[in-house]
Amino acid sequence: MAEVAISIRNVSKSFGSLRVLKEISFDIPKSQVFAFIGPSGAGKSTLVRALNGLEGIDAGEILVEGVSVHDRRTDINRLRTNIGFVSQSFNLYPHLDVLGNVTLAPVHVKRQGQEEARERALAILGSLGLADKARSFPQQLSGGQQQRVAIARAMAMDPHMILFDEPTSALDPELIKEVLDAIRQLASTGMTMVVVTHEMSFAREICERIVFMNQGSVLEITPPQEFFSNPKTERAREFLGKILHH
Ligand SMILES: Nc1ncnc2c1ncn2[C@@H]1O[C@H](COP(=O)(O)OP(=O)(O)O)[C@@H](O)[C@H]1O
Ligand SMILES: [Mg+2]
Repeated sequence: MAEVAISIRNVSKSFGSLRVLKEISFDIPKSQVFAFIGPSGAGKSTLVRALNGLEGIDAGEILVEGVSVHDRRTDINRLRTNIGFVSQSFNLYPHLDVLGNVTLAPVHVKRQGQEEARERALAILGSLGLADKARSFPQQLSGGQQQRVAIARAMAMDPHMILFDEPTSALDPELIKEVLDAIRQLASTGMTMVVVTHEMSFAREICERIVFMNQGSVLEITPPQEFFSNPKTERAREFLGKILHH
């Protein structure tokens, strides 16, 4: 049995009278990539944000490496240092250069020395093809470069897992590939990852499981080959029909 990284147990959540997560339960094993897909409004972002406590839950429990995320006794800031998060808006600090953005948390949260943090940041930036951008400011970079800096920033904390919420949705089509390549490279290192995405061929290629969500429910958790060739549910078939003929 593979070691469990994230355990989602009977999780429900409502916004007012709208039930956005309905009794969701599944485990994500260590070193695996799970892709959350489904129509807009399905609850994908709410679920992924709940995994690191950015979103509260009404019932159930989420365990990250055995630690209960929503337990009031949990030191959530400490837990989050192990969980990288990359969303569609890169949220880089505009007044800091790339190196400043990538070293900020290691220095201030992890108490790494400036020099150590700098060396590590440069190595990561190099691996993402950004070696020559270390002294650039966010507004001098393309969207794809900014998103790769956001990925570098997450990696610099040496997280045990990284959550991505539609990391390429805000990018022009020609910039998507460089960001997907960076995520693909990270997957090949054995990083545990959750990726909310509409990039179907990418999901098919990198993930161990597709988690198909619709209206707050997980309708299926299926290996990608099977999901794309023979989805179990009518709703998934319909969704794939729309998205793949687009
Ligand atoms: N802060 C919020 N307040 C009220 N409703 C919200 C909030 N965030 C999300 N929702 C609603 O919850 C549902 C699920 O949203 P979301 O998790 O963002 O779906 P997805 O990421 O799959 O598109 C949607 O109907 C959305 O409008
Ligand atoms: Mg979303």
